[in-house]
Formats: sequence, C-alpha cells, structure tokens
Amino acid sequence: MSDLTTIAPDKLTEDEAKKELERLAKEIARHDKLYHQQDAPVISDADYDALRRRNDEIEKLFPNLVREDSPSERVGAAPASGFAKVEHAKPMLSLDNAFEEQDVIDFVDRCRRFLNFSAGDEIALTAEPKIDGLSASLRFEKGVFVQGVTRGDGRVGENITDNLKTLDDIPKKLQGDGWPEVLEVRGEVYMGKADFFTLNEKQTAAGKKIFANPRNAAAGSLRQLDSSITAERPLKFFAYGWGELSEPLSNTQHGALEQLGKWGFVINSLTKVCTSAEQAVEHYREIARERAELDYDIDGVVYKVDRLDLQDRLGMVSRAPRWAIAHKFPAEQAITTLQDVEFQVGRTGAVTPVARLEPVTVGGVVVSNATLHNADEIERLGVRIGDKVIIQRAGDVIPQVVRVQEAAGDGRDIEFPKECPSCGSHLEREDGEVVWRCSGGLICPAQRVERLRHFVSRNAFDIDGLGAKQIEFFFTQGMIQSPADIFTLQKRDEAAGNLQRLKNFDGWGELSVKNLWQAIDARREITMDRFLYALGIRHIGQNNARLLCLNYLSLDTLLTQMEASRDRDSSAYQELMNIDGIGPKVAEAIVEFFAEPHNQEVINNLRAEVKVLDFEAPKTEGSLVAGKTIVFTGKLEKMSRQEAKASAENLGAKVSGSVSVKTDMVVAGPGAGSKLKKATELGIQTLTEDEWLELIGQA
Ligand code: IVH
Repeated sequence: MSDLTTIAPDKLTEDEAKKELERLAKEIARHDKLYHQQDAPVISDADYDALRRRNDEIEKLFPNLVREDSPSERVGAAPASGFAKVEHAKPMLSLDNAFEEQDVIDFVDRCRRFLNFSAGDEIALTAEPKIDGLSASLRFEKGVFVQGVTRGDGRVGENITDNLKTLDDIPKKLQGDGWPEVLEVRGEVYMGKADFFTLNEKQTAAGKKIFANPRNAAAGSLRQLDSSITAERPLKFFAYGWGELSEPLSNTQHGALEQLGKWGFVINSLTKVCTSAEQAVEHYREIARERAELDYDIDGVVYKVDRLDLQDRLGMVSRAPRWAIAHKFPAEQAITTLQDVEFQVGRTGAVTPVARLEPVTVGGVVVSNATLHNADEIERLGVRIGDKVIIQRAGDVIPQVVRVQEAAGDGRDIEFPKECPSCGSHLEREDGEVVWRCSGGLICPAQRVERLRHFVSRNAFDIDGLGAKQIEFFFTQGMIQSPADIFTLQKRDEAAGNLQRLKNFDGWGELSVKNLWQAIDARREITMDRFLYALGIRHIGQNNARLLCLNYLSLDTLLTQMEASRDRDSSAYQELMNIDGIGPKVAEAIVEFFAEPHNQEVINNLRAEVKVLDFEAPKTEGSLVAGKTIVFTGKLEKMSRQEAKASAENLGAKVSGSVSVKTDMVVAGPGAGSKLKKATELGIQTLTEDEWLELIGQA
C-alpha cells in the first residue's frame, strides 16, 4: 500500500481521508503537548504548520469526516507564563556569524576601517568557545546576587532568580572584594554531556520524558516554575560578559574575565587572547580539534575585540556588537530521501519550494523539511523527487538541501507552479530577481496570514500567547483578518453567544483566555520602532525602522511626511532620501506603502485601538546635538565616517547626506567642497573635526 501521508488531499479516497485525519489528529496533539507542556518541540514550526494545513485541506474536502477531536477545533493554549518580565538595564545582544576564515579577516578589517586604523595595525581579540546553552543575566548589588533574568527578546527577559540560585556555578555572594556596587554578569547556562546522558537515563527509568539534546534539557530545566525541580538538574554556568556596571571592571575583555574569575565565576579555560585574526583562527582550529572531547556542546568560537575602549567606540548595529563575531563550526550534514516538494507563500508573496524529507536526525534535531530556496536553485541542484539528498543544518538557520547524493531511477521532476498555491493568482518575477511572487497581494490568504504572523512576531508586537499557531487558528476561524482585529477580539468575544466564546474552545479555558486579553492589553501602547517594523513594509527591518524613528520621532510626523513624499520633487521626499542608510529602493517602498489606501486603513484602524509612543532617542542626556541634523563632508582624520555617523546618532542627532535649510551643522574635514560651500551660503554653522569632537565631549 502506498504511504498515505504523501498523497495529495484531493487524491485521497474517503477511507484514506478518514485514516489520514485520525493520524493527523494524534500527531498534532502530540506536538502540541511537546511544545506547550514540555517545552521540547521535535519539529520546526514550518513542519507543524504543514501538518495543520494538511488537516484543514482534507477537512475541507471531506467535511463529513471532521473528527470530534479535530485539531482545527483546538489551538495550543498559551504556555503558563509564571515568570515576571524584567527589562534589561542594558540590552542583551546577539552575535553576527562568520562561517569562513575569510569572514574573520573581513571582520577585523571592518573594525580597523571603522576605527580609522591603518592596514597594518593589529587589533587584539579574545577567542573563546561559543557554548550551546541559554544566556542569562545575573545582577549583584553590593556583592549579593539579587536577580537573574533570561535573555528574552534581548530587551525584556523573564525573572528566573530562584532557579538560577540553585546553580553551584553562580555565587550567591561574590568572593574577594573590590566589586562594583552594581554588577551584572552575563553568561551561558548549559548542561554537560555526561550529565545529560545520566539525566535521560534517570528520566527513562522513572517513565518521564527524555530530552533531545543537552540544550533542550537545560532549557526545560531552567523554565521550571518549581525551583526544586531545577535544583535536581545538573546545570552549569560560564561567565563571558557583563551588562550594567557601576564601575568598569578593567581596560580589557580578558582583564574583566579574570576579575570575574576572582569573584567566584567559572571562566571557560579555552579563552585566549590573540594578537591577530590569523592567530584567532588558529585557536578556532585548536578548539575544533578538541570539540569532541569537551564535556559540553559548543557550536563555534566567539571573537571579541580585547580593548574595552575600542569596544565602546565600535558600539553596535541592529542588536549585535560591531566588536564581536561568532565563528561557527561547519554545518552538520545528513543523507535522506526527498519525498515531495511543497510551495509556501511568504509575507511578501515570495513562493519558496520546501523539500519534504524522510525525517532524519541532524545535530540532535529531527529534520523533515528543508528549503530549496527558489526555482533556479532546484535547477542548479538537478534534484528530483525520490532522490537521496544531502541536507545540512547550521545553528538556527533553516536546513537546506546541499546536493543530490544518489539520483532515483524513477525520480519525478519538480514542477514549479505557475499560479499561487494559496490563492491561484499568477506568479510574477521582477527583472534580475530569482524569486517568483504571487501577484494576489491582499486577496491572497497565505500572504495575509504571514503578515499577521509577522505582526505578532518577537521583534514586532510580541504578544504572549498569540504566536504563529494561534494567529493561524484565529485567521482560519475568521476572527482575526487584519491587525486591528487582535485588539477588538475581546469585545467581540464578550458579545458572542456562549458556545462561540473562546473559553469554550478546546484547548482554551477561562484562565488562558484571561491571560490572552491581558497580554493583548499590555500592547495597547507600543514603541514606534516596533510598530513600524510590525507593519511589514518591504525592506523595513528593525534597523531601517529605527532610522525612520530617529528621523521623524513621531508617527504623526512620519505619516504627514510620507503623504507629502508622494510628490517625488518635494522636500519631504528629499529628506527621506537624505536619511543616511535609506537608499532610493527603500524610499520608494516606504512611500508606496503609505500611499496604498488599504495600508492607510490598516494603520487608522490600528490607531483607534493602540497608542504608538513617540520615539525616545537614545541616551541624549547632556547631549548638545540631540535632535540636530548633521552633515559630515570631506575627509575625517581621527575616525571613520561610519564611526562619526554612529556616534552622532547615539547622541540623538540625525545624520544627513546632503545640505539643506534643515541642516543644523556641517562638520567639514580637508577636501570638503560643494557641501561646505552650500552651508556657508545658507549661513549654517560649520565645524572642524576637532571642534565637533569637543562639542560631543570626545576630544
Ligand atoms: S557574547 C555582546 N560569548 O551566543 C555579545 N555569547 O549568538 C553577546 N553565547 O545570546 C554574547 N557562548 O547565548 C558570547 N562565549 C560566548 C558565548 C555566547 C554562547 C551565546 C549567547 C548569545 C548567543 C549569540
């Protein structure tokens, strides 16, 4: 008998459909439980969604077969979130990745250029293993451990102090003396490999669930509401950094780590100071050789600029420091069979072929889907359905098909659709682009649901208990069609007849519904950068959203300016194009987005429910340039143009590429030409580089 799970829904007989629905109900319930109650998902979100979609499609074709325990009647309830939220005093950053040795050389070159160093100037780096665990921030006041918080989204985490207190590696009181009054130590909580195996043995013997890998075991152990359970789990902690400090720890990264070691923290013994990129890479190779023998999982090596004054100058860009990079180990690979290819439609209509694979374990995780990127990639790989393929997975990157290992004799060609698999609209491809996009825009359900998912995603509205799965549920139920519907859901629910009330849906109850309303209400005030990012404007990621905020400061100003920018000859459009970092393509996309009546409606409806806070420029206290528009021109000698721009922005200034009546100051170095001339004509204040540095207190 052929494998039912691979038969397209419309090719199933009634008998087969019944069996398939039964299997899907069980399978989805199992994954719900793993995800919501055990914090240990074994499949990716995309795989999970595919199961639900298949279930929905079959139900649509066979409405008489809808089961009582059908997953479509049920949505995974929000996980009990018993931990209080805590805002980090300093954000917890993530790291950019390097995969090749050349990326490391480029990283050091970038630092050099930013700092205006010469090509020969070496920059010392620390190199240490990247531990595969979970980061935590530990706050000490007067030497006493007072609070421990998870990373969360980097800005706000969860208070897990009681759980962290159970770790031997975390001193409850610092040893020695000389610690700053406020000291936040950051590092990685992890579980050793031997401890992980022993824990799993114990779990098996006790008939409890086993963990897929040490990282999941550490995560599950740390997220216990009852800290006596955490206390039984063998968790460890390496310190690798810090957050808020009332006094500096040292002049160097390695000096600061040594200091933390003296106060009772465990510092990874493979941490080494290297004087060049080449030496750092040599240390990476050494660590890679030792990897298998280490008692903990690592997934790369982290390099950090050792001098802390240079770290300060380098600062950060979109939530990652410019002064550090993670050099990842090569991706893990596995061989499996390509069973089918499905086509997914993304938020912007991009159609992505997704390989459905015979499930295979790669680096401790079961993979049953991988991306095939686009039609050109399928052609390049020459892959057909039935082939044995090599897939790889690196860190949190989506697994991908690398090449064909063994072609199947009876392989089937992969046919790229001509029409959108979700709404049937024709697909189009822009000149020079490899991606086919659905032309259906807002009539396309797949695009609409993806936009909603983006709207509630972590860096956007980030509503507790309203994740991708719940959005899909509310969307298919017709309860949320557009973002503002999220905020009217409670009112509509209260007006509904008893049976239609959310609390009576399977998987929901009084408490989870109440929590959901609370979580939604907590987002009725939202920062302007999150709001702009959530709208899902093409090319507007977190970085560009922030640039727009810095420049316009309030949503009202931004909307007025976008309206005026529809006239491409207007000064408003000029201003937009002048924002350093916003090029013509991005500017076009923004103006077009706000000119589209449907988008205006979405924004207006949202604003009736949600208050968008004016943008708070970063730490501008005492800054003489906050809110001013600055133009840099000519050659700067003490720093690079990039550093000048970054430091001006950190002080709340806007940096523009051209001089206009709106310019407040022009900083001119040697060789300044027309911009300086124009500034003088317009009577705009001009400064030398030294005068500028003096003004911002960096002379
Ligand atoms: S430094 C500002 N050092 O990697 C730099 N991170 O991809 C922030 N990690 O969230 C982190 N080992 O959980 C740093 N030796 C190490 C690390 C490390 C593991 C994790 C950490 C962070 C993630 C960033």
